[in-house]
Amino acid sequence: MFKRISALVLAGLTAMSVAACGSGGSTTAGTSGGGDSTITMGFSQVGAESGWRTANTKSVQDAAKNAGIELKFSDAQQKQENQIKAIRSYIQQKVDVIAFSPVVESGWDTVLKEAQNAKIPVILTDRAVDSKDTSLYKTFLGSDFVEEGRKAGKWLVEEYKDSKDPVNIVELQGTTGSAPANDRKAGFQEIIQADPKFKIIASQTGDFTRAKGKEVMEAFLKSNPDIDVLYAHNDDMGLGAIEAIEGAGKVPGKDIKIITVDAVKDGMQALADGKINFIVECSPLLGPQLMDLAKKVVKGEQVPARVVTEETTFTQEQAKEVLSSRQY
Ligand code: AHR
Repeated sequence: MFKRISALVLAGLTAMSVAACGSGGSTTAGTSGGGDSTITMGFSQVGAESGWRTANTKSVQDAAKNAGIELKFSDAQQKQENQIKAIRSYIQQKVDVIAFSPVVESGWDTVLKEAQNAKIPVILTDRAVDSKDTSLYKTFLGSDFVEEGRKAGKWLVEEYKDSKDPVNIVELQGTTGSAPANDRKAGFQEIIQADPKFKIIASQTGDFTRAKGKEVMEAFLKSNPDIDVLYAHNDDMGLGAIEAIEGAGKVPGKDIKIITVDAVKDGMQALADGKINFIVECSPLLGPQLMDLAKKVVKGEQVPARVVTEETTFTQEQAKEVLSSRQY
């Protein structure tokens, strides 16, 4: 639909979008920045599980508006079936480009093939798929999650470099089967395995949510009296775990050292307050780059197969310095 769209047609498309995706999670549609030629993007978001996700959704919606791209947005509520339904609906609606953040890595080939057959380019954003056929998508924009896990592991190794005692670690994993959960686990493991004193004594999913992070940490604390370190795959689970640790009469950041990933404002506040010890940044501000890539792929221009987000890490001191200017 890379053509003039009158207000009437736009209203019709919006209504179709809501109807088509009604059973597949909530859908908000329709922003047009004007201009003669409007690109329509169908975007299937994972859900609203974390502060990171909320910031990512806002970044995508704001960037679409600024770029004059008509955005059809659906929230899959962390369910792959909802994402597949949304993608099929975008194919039916003949959008110009589909972008999505796949909740899990596997099981996308069929629907991606359908998009390819319909000649609709697909952009992966934030999370990857494990499809062998990389021609099924044009590019993948997002973080290097393995590297994030390595950064977490390197901080831990440095922190305990002078200790000979065993270091008992519990791990709160992200959503089972998701790229960030798989990769953050692998990167961390790769670094700590060099020294046998580091032992992961319990590891379970907290689904990237605060509530589940708290629940699982409560269970960890009950069955493991000697936890030295918590590695949480995101801030939200770490923040839930802090509540559990305090509830058990322990001091987060001291009795149990905590490493998380993301660096959203609440996480950075806890870091500045000494309740978290180290955060590996994962930037959710992917919207502007996503819209640039979308314009290029719709025009048929070449884009890099992989665009890696630039990120840093934060100690407690660094968090205090940047907290007031943190955007999300
Ligand atoms: O895919 C990115 C991850 O998803 C973020 O680290 C986490 O907070 C989110 O839910």
